[in-house]
Amino acid sequence: MDKLIKYFEKPGNENTDDLINLVKERLVDSDIKYVAIASVSGETALKLFKALEDVGINDKITIVNVTHHAGFKEKNKLEISSKTRKKLEEKGIITFAGSHAFSGVGRGISNKFGGVTPVEIISETFRMFSQGIKVCGEISIMLADAGLIPVEEKILAIGGRANGADSAAIITPANMTNVFDMRIHEIIAMPID
Ligand SMILES: Cc1cc2nc3c(=O)[nH]c(=O)nc-3n(C[C@H](O)[C@H](O)[C@H](O)COP(=O)(O)O)c2cc1C
Repeated sequence: MDKLIKYFEKPGNENTDDLINLVKERLVDSDIKYVAIASVSGETALKLFKALEDVGINDKITIVNVTHHAGFKEKNKLEISSKTRKKLEEKGIITFAGSHAFSGVGRGISNKFGGVTPVEIISETFRMFSQGIKVCGEISIMLADAGLIPVEEKILAIGGRANGADSAAIITPANMTNVFDMRIHEIIAMPID
């Protein structure tokens, strides 16, 4: 089987529109039913919805969004506005906020005492591909644990470098208790740098 991977020259937000186009092309005529996206502000999730709407497949696919956990940037604050969250909900897109699977309490331990926890090693191993591919793996666990996407079924996951999207993969998610059951079947796009 031959498949094409798109390699962006540089990571980051500038690749968002191209990435969304590639995802749209990959989803048309596919049997993927769920798309997991990391969109802290919700803006990239809105762009994704519009792209799927343009080709009339938005009602066949459930998009689930993940934002940073409260307190990631500022105490007691989520980084998505209630206005954008509502706008997404009106389009059927749930936004999940919870502990990040690849840092979690372990980050609190290494922040206080130094060193590294095993889960942070998993995280850095994913980052050998790209920040975005690490995010794809991480949000697939978070959403599976929240019961918002299935395990044992291929989904499409989207992540990026701080803002926007530059990486996408087809993944069979796993719950955190069986993390090594996760399968990464295809990389659709990632930055080459
Ligand atoms: C749970 C979570 C973890 C993330 N981890 C990283 C990360 O490790 N490295 C990184 O560059 N971006 C990370 N991001 C950012 C995303 O990959 C993506 O670029 C961002 O959510 C897009 O948000 P926007 O739609 O507001 O631009 C993370 C986002 C979320 C929601």
